[in-house]
Amino acid sequence: MQTIELPLPDDFHVHLRQGPALASYAKTVSKEFGRILVMPNTVPPIASAKAILDYRAEIKSAVPELETLMTFKLNSKYTAMDLEQMKLAGAVAGKYYPAGVTTNSEDGVSDFESVLPVISEMEKLGLVLCVHGEEPSAFCLDREKEFIKRVEFLSAKFPKLKIVFEHLSTAAAVEAVLRLPQNVVATLTVHHLLQTLDDVVGGSLSPHHFCKPLPKRPEDREALRQAAFSGNPKFFFGSDSAPHEKEKKEGPCGAAGVYSAPVAVPLLIEIFERAYKLNKLPDFIGGFGADFYGIPRHKEIRKYGKEDWIVPQIVNGAVPLFAGKTLHWHKI
Ligand code: DOR
Ligand code: ZN
Repeated sequence: MQTIELPLPDDFHVHLRQGPALASYAKTVSKEFGRILVMPNTVPPIASAKAILDYRAEIKSAVPELETLMTFKLNSKYTAMDLEQMKLAGAVAGKYYPAGVTTNSEDGVSDFESVLPVISEMEKLGLVLCVHGEEPSAFCLDREKEFIKRVEFLSAKFPKLKIVFEHLSTAAAVEAVLRLPQNVVATLTVHHLLQTLDDVVGGSLSPHHFCKPLPKRPEDREALRQAAFSGNPKFFFGSDSAPHEKEKKEGPCGAAGVYSAPVAVPLLIEIFERAYKLNKLPDFIGGFGADFYGIPRHKEIRKYGKEDWIVPQIVNGAVPLFAGKTLHWHKI
């Protein structure tokens, strides 16, 4: 069997949810990744030092071996003391959700100016700003492009602030990240490297591919792939794996989110292999993200073998990406 070795992968953007489902989602993630950045859009949101401590403890009790980097949801009410306490509790980043832009973001930022003092304190404290970069009022396919000006503004106003433009979906955002200073970086998901809008609505409706930001045009996907293959440390992996129960995706008001955790690494290997870029994968999944967050790279190595397997139709009550399809690589 053909095999490859990779560093133990990191995932710098994961949704683990809360309540009874959390343990199974976390266990599945821990089989694939050594270290994760956990998103705060639970209900209620992760928005205090106590919430961070409790959430981390809940994750740890499900999977003690999973290393978790915590985030809080940005709002305009935090004081400098709140931010310091959240940092002490283990937060490495705050997540900026424009209000209403995606799942559980109704309490997000509705007034851009109002969060600037908080962001200024984050810059002083060395807290990373992760942004869901979409302008909710714009036409759905233009939302990311319309948000670029905000990232440019934040980068100019807070030159020491580390900014992650999350889950890029457009060539325009890739171009912006390349153009902006070194402390502005981006995560790329596996589903945006694979899909275009055709995979969501081009044929019959595919609710399990529906996510925010929407996948866009083939040329956008190509720009994302070139960014991933480039070996530029500004681009690293964040899956945005976002499980929703099957019924919530298939109902009359389908939730946004692609559940990619169970298949993300095998799919990435396949995508990089097809492009003859396997040599760029170790840094993308186990290097650049750690460097950016200022944490040591993993020393542990994972071995993967090339042997067909069929992705289950359902994992933890949710339909995973590539359900029922054949993948070629798996962990050994
Ligand atoms: O599709 C998405 N789902 N995009 C996000 O930004 C959030 C996520 C979720 O939490 O379900
Ligand atoms: Zn997300």
